[in-house]
Amino acid sequence: MNPWALLVILTVLVNFHQSDAQKTCDFFQGRWVGDSSYPLYNSSSCPFIQREFNCIKNGRPDYLYLKYRWQPLACNLSRFDGVKFLRRYKGKSIMFVGDSLSRNQWLSLICMLYSAVPGTRYTETAVGEVSTFTFTDFEVKVMLDHTVYLVDVEREDQGRILKLDSIEGGKLWKGIDLLIFNTWHWWNRRGPTQPWDYIEVGGQRYKDMDRVLAFEKALTTWATWVDTNIDPAKTKVFFQGISPSHYNGSTWNEPRAKSCLGQKLPLAGSTYPGGLPPALTVLKKVLSTIKKPVQLLDITNLSLLRKDGHPSIYGLGGRTGMDCSHWCLPGVPDTWNQILYNFIL
Ligand SMILES: *[C@@H]1O[C@H](CO)[C@@H](O)[C@H](O)[C@H]1NC(C)=O
Ligand SMILES: *[C@@H]1O[C@H](CO)[C@@H](O)[C@H](O)[C@H]1NC(C)=O
Ligand SMILES: *[C@@H]1O[C@H](CO)[C@@H](O)[C@H](O)[C@H]1NC(C)=O
Ligand SMILES: *[C@@H]1O[C@H](CO)[C@@H](O)[C@H](O)[C@H]1NC(C)=O
Repeated sequence: MNPWALLVILTVLVNFHQSDAQKTCDFFQGRWVGDSSYPLYNSSSCPFIQREFNCIKNGRPDYLYLKYRWQPLACNLSRFDGVKFLRRYKGKSIMFVGDSLSRNQWLSLICMLYSAVPGTRYTETAVGEVSTFTFTDFEVKVMLDHTVYLVDVEREDQGRILKLDSIEGGKLWKGIDLLIFNTWHWWNRRGPTQPWDYIEVGGQRYKDMDRVLAFEKALTTWATWVDTNIDPAKTKVFFQGISPSHYNGSTWNEPRAKSCLGQKLPLAGSTYPGGLPPALTVLKKVLSTIKKPVQLLDITNLSLLRKDGHPSIYGLGGRTGMDCSHWCLPGVPDTWNQILYNFIL
């Protein structure tokens, strides 16, 4: 056969392969629909849920929020199949890298997988900031590297330095088969819970700087790390988009609500009255500069609609620890993982 004809046929085949659901359908554009077959697992059958996410155990009385499924406008998501996932990732490792929103998604994935093979053998280990849950029978490692800024914070004579150009922590991410990054919530921390004293960038130290700009600089350092270190033939890279909080009812047209407490239903439709967080624009801008393939898990819109999905007082601290940032499990992060599943299988 003429080599050009062969090339044309191959090109058509490759494009055809890529034009299934994930290429033609935006998974992130959709709405929440009631589905009595949800949740995907039972909180009492997943002993690994950390207390702060275990809303039912902490006494949350309403259950309707568990009964929703994300429905993209242009296609259907495949239902999560934990056994298929575990077989596909046999001998491989998955790592979530980021803050407690990464922990939220990490535990969700462990529960989704474990409930597909209840009673299967597992081990749990923690070394430094890295926690590893191993499905022994399947040789699958589901890991979490807790690092709230992705870039380094180092203790020096002057104090704790947040180094926007330095990402030594990345040595822990090498050789992993599936990486899901996230950072945002800590960039606005101030006062006693801010875990640094100075910011260093471009060889200069500052007492403080514009936080969104600092976020962008750190993401750019991370982007360079990806371009330098990732072999796309081995590793798939995702970025968990900006997970939204719900402390201001005005943003969902309920100005009297001062938090997510008592919210029992998602917003109908696909549009959030309060619009998107500006950090998402920064994130998308930096992602657009990366040469290696990185898929944004663009979970902001779908999560914005879930003002009912947070622990509120059914997290750690009761009324003093009102939590409208994290998510109950089972709950919204299960959908993030279901979409992740639809990208990788
Ligand atoms: C979860 O398990 C408990 C105890 O086995 C059961 O009573 C409850 O109905 C289950 N909930 C769901 C949502 O399946
Ligand atoms: C999605 O699933 C529904 C119900 O199973 C079906 O009626 C519909 O045709 C499917 N849509 C697409 C785009 O596959
Ligand atoms: C709540 O959101 C509204 C509308 O976006 C805004 O005008 C207001 O300043 C916000 N309130 C607080 C306390 O942030
Ligand atoms: C996300 O939400 C914003 C604000 O509600 C809306 O303008 C935008 O069209 C939505 N995007 C998608 C992909 O649904």
